Amino acid sequence: MITRRELLAGMGASVALGAGCGDGPDAPPDAAADAGFDDDVPADADAGAFTEAVDFLHGVASGDPLADRVILWTRVTPRGGARGQVAVRWELSASLDFAAILAQGELVTSAARDFTVKVDAAGLPAGATLYYRFAVGAVRSPVGRTRTTPTGAVERVRLAVVSCASLAHGYFHVYREIAERLDLDAVVHLGDYIYEYPSGFYGDVRPYDPPTEIVSLTDYRRRHGWYKRDPDLRAMHQQHPMIAVWDDHEFANNAWEGGAEAHMPRTEGEWRDRKAAAMRAYFEWMPLREQPDGRIWRRFAFGDLVDLVMLDTRIWARPQPLPGNSPMLDDPHRNLLGDAQEQWFFQAVTTSSARWKVVGQQVRMAHLQPKFNADTWEGFPASRSRFFDVLARMRADDVVVLTGDIHTCWAMDLTPDPFDRDAYDPRTGRGSLGVELIVSGVTSPGHPPEVEAEIPGLIRQNPHMRYGNASQRGYILLDCDAQRAQGEWFLLPHGSVEQRERRRAAFNAGWLTRRGDNHLTQAGNPSLPREGAAPPAPWEPA
Ligand SMILES: [Fe+2]
Repeated sequence: MITRRELLAGMGASVALGAGCGDGPDAPPDAAADAGFDDDVPADADAGAFTEAVDFLHGVASGDPLADRVILWTRVTPRGGARGQVAVRWELSASLDFAAILAQGELVTSAARDFTVKVDAAGLPAGATLYYRFAVGAVRSPVGRTRTTPTGAVERVRLAVVSCASLAHGYFHVYREIAERLDLDAVVHLGDYIYEYPSGFYGDVRPYDPPTEIVSLTDYRRRHGWYKRDPDLRAMHQQHPMIAVWDDHEFANNAWEGGAEAHMPRTEGEWRDRKAAAMRAYFEWMPLREQPDGRIWRRFAFGDLVDLVMLDTRIWARPQPLPGNSPMLDDPHRNLLGDAQEQWFFQAVTTSSARWKVVGQQVRMAHLQPKFNADTWEGFPASRSRFFDVLARMRADDVVVLTGDIHTCWAMDLTPDPFDRDAYDPRTGRGSLGVELIVSGVTSPGHPPEVEAEIPGLIRQNPHMRYGNASQRGYILLDCDAQRAQGEWFLLPHGSVEQRERRRAAFNAGWLTRRGDNHLTQAGNPSLPREGAAPPAPWEPA
């Protein structure tokens, strides 16, 4: 029998990230009666005491898988008030019965990190489906299922790609469907995992907690907690590791490094403070590996087949967007990524020996006429040109850019000037340097169904655009093998997310790029599921 003190003293192969970080919570908000959780009592009340009376109301999650480690996450809700400390045990096994424990440990959480728990479980086998669970006293969390990345020669990688989940617009059927696809390596979330708006402001199908726009640390924490009460979102986290980056709505609409279109300093205080609060809550509540200075750009290797490079085009260094007619637009010093991230990015892409260089990032990179959008790579033409230059000069082949943010589906060739027929031939793909696959929202709305009639005209105007759907919600399944990387758009019927009743997404289109092609070709059929996927963790009751 090991005592708690001994457990806390030596935690074996894991790194505990859960112990106190920062200096206690904001002033508590009003009694959170409508939320039904987050009962707020100041953290320093009874700070030294341990409590074992908790619930696991926010499920479990995992993320940032590497070949030998993965982040495990949960959150405990102390019964009778957010006070004291909670010692949380965790264990991980290759089998659902937890007969043999591969890694385990214990750590302490408290109000200082909103009772969230994060562990970097290390020393794990590569390319393995693993199960994990947490416990406080006799209270156990649901079991989670996760997967480390494979090493060496890899035949196939399958990723679900999502973005933009405005909870106010409806139900997360997309997340439920992804949860049930048991053959995925990971879920890639391109941001707008939460929205910051007040109830009824942007969507009115479901209410928010808090009901107001979120501004303070307490607000951001409560909004993250509200999202993780959603059973479909919890189910997706329960069954798959997530690789997430934030976009603007984890902060405020059309955010950039030094502000946001929707941030009002006069009434909402300094941007710096709001940004820090949003960032802190994100790191507490999301299963990603924390880096020291708020950077979230990072990479993941799936053996010799896929290098996944995740970028922060939003918060790290983005300068203030400019109107399309600004003479400053072409200033080479305006860098969407910032110098440090840009150098790292170019190096990651050009030195990768993996077959596919997959880039997960927030905003549209390809050109799109006739509408200039300052919030995309179009608003930072020097950054985009430098990237295209690097691809052309270094002959970096097989780059697939994944994009969210705009709540619509597109497949586009990436080429410096798609409107110059000498430089780019849409019939053969000559002149294309890579491809971009854009995913619609999980729930966030695109355009009304009538707009689909305009897509063929838009494609005539934009020869590098091969596919578009501007009205349906859904996700991309990215299936990679040695011969091709194939994006498959699975989309819900119109009117689905407003209904609680489960709806399924249907295969809408598939577009692939073949090894060495660097341009898109239509795929006839969706890829086949991978055989032999490990069983799901026991589903939580919805
Ligand atoms: Fe969005």
